[in-house]
Amino acid sequence: MVRAEKMMRAEKIIIDTDPGQDDAVAILLALASPEIELLGITAVAGNVPLDLTERNARMICELAGRRDIPVFAGAAAPLSRKLVTAEYVHGKTGLDGIALPEPTMPLQAAHAVDFLIETLRREPPGSITLVPIGPLTNIASAFTRAPDIVARVGRIVLMGGAYFEVGNVTPAAEFNIYVDPEAAEIVFRAGVPLVVVPLDVTHKALTTRSRIEAFRALGTPVGAAVASWTDFFERFDMAKYGSEGAPLHDPCTIAYILRPDLFTGRHVNVEIETSGRLTTGMTVADWWGVSGRAPNATFLGGIDAGAFYGLLTERLARL
Ligand code: RIB
Ligand code: CA
Repeated sequence: MVRAEKMMRAEKIIIDTDPGQDDAVAILLALASPEIELLGITAVAGNVPLDLTERNARMICELAGRRDIPVFAGAAAPLSRKLVTAEYVHGKTGLDGIALPEPTMPLQAAHAVDFLIETLRREPPGSITLVPIGPLTNIASAFTRAPDIVARVGRIVLMGGAYFEVGNVTPAAEFNIYVDPEAAEIVFRAGVPLVVVPLDVTHKALTTRSRIEAFRALGTPVGAAVASWTDFFERFDMAKYGSEGAPLHDPCTIAYILRPDLFTGRHVNVEIETSGRLTTGMTVADWWGVSGRAPNATFLGGIDAGAFYGLLTERLARL
């Protein structure tokens, strides 16, 4: 009997990413899930510079045995600001925790923004989901250069922002939005159906010893890598927050695509602060509907963390 998940039409997605250990887990979850068809990966500068994020993306595909996934390099810097990186969280390579072989699969010659534009123009309107899990520079550049593609995007499911959880890189701003607030403003105002997975959700999806040991217990190279990455990745957040584990941010976007029932949220207006002396990069979510501004995003707030880690572990076991 064909597994139920195989019978449905796979959702076509493009992941825009700055790997990053948590980005790596998101990419692996997508590759392990037959409900998803990953058309390509577009790398952007963020956690570490672009030459490392595109290299890391290729290493992750090879770890999953998926040299067929095209990886494209995109923006090396935000639209109009200096790049801010996060080696203090992710390590010098962006994938510290386990040494993986240098990638041998080629980087695609085309620029990531050209891939986004050409793919959205080629595929049927509404058939593609964009999954940005880093700064939004590539997505904003594509929308600016080719406004005709905006209406062709099915939906965007992004990791970024914060409201009740406040910021993680400044008191007001989450990293992905903070790095390129002008890009985020373009994406949030584009009118594309938008699901936002903020720190309000990811800070409820914490790694724990038992959850990491469940990855290690898979006894596979993928399980070993994910356990080593989360062991490394969590040290910063545990020291900062005094928590038992670290938020596994980016895989929450893929989990939302697979099991939206594991999440709660509200359709509200979300605007991006781009010029606040103290609040630049803040996602100003009108959770209580006081602004009169039209809702433009499904802003998530809750997650069934136990079910999320169960899904993640079960899927990673398939790689
Ligand atoms: O703030 C968390 C986000 O910033 C995640 O996407 C993480 O990978 C970093 O890019
Ligand atoms: Ca990321």
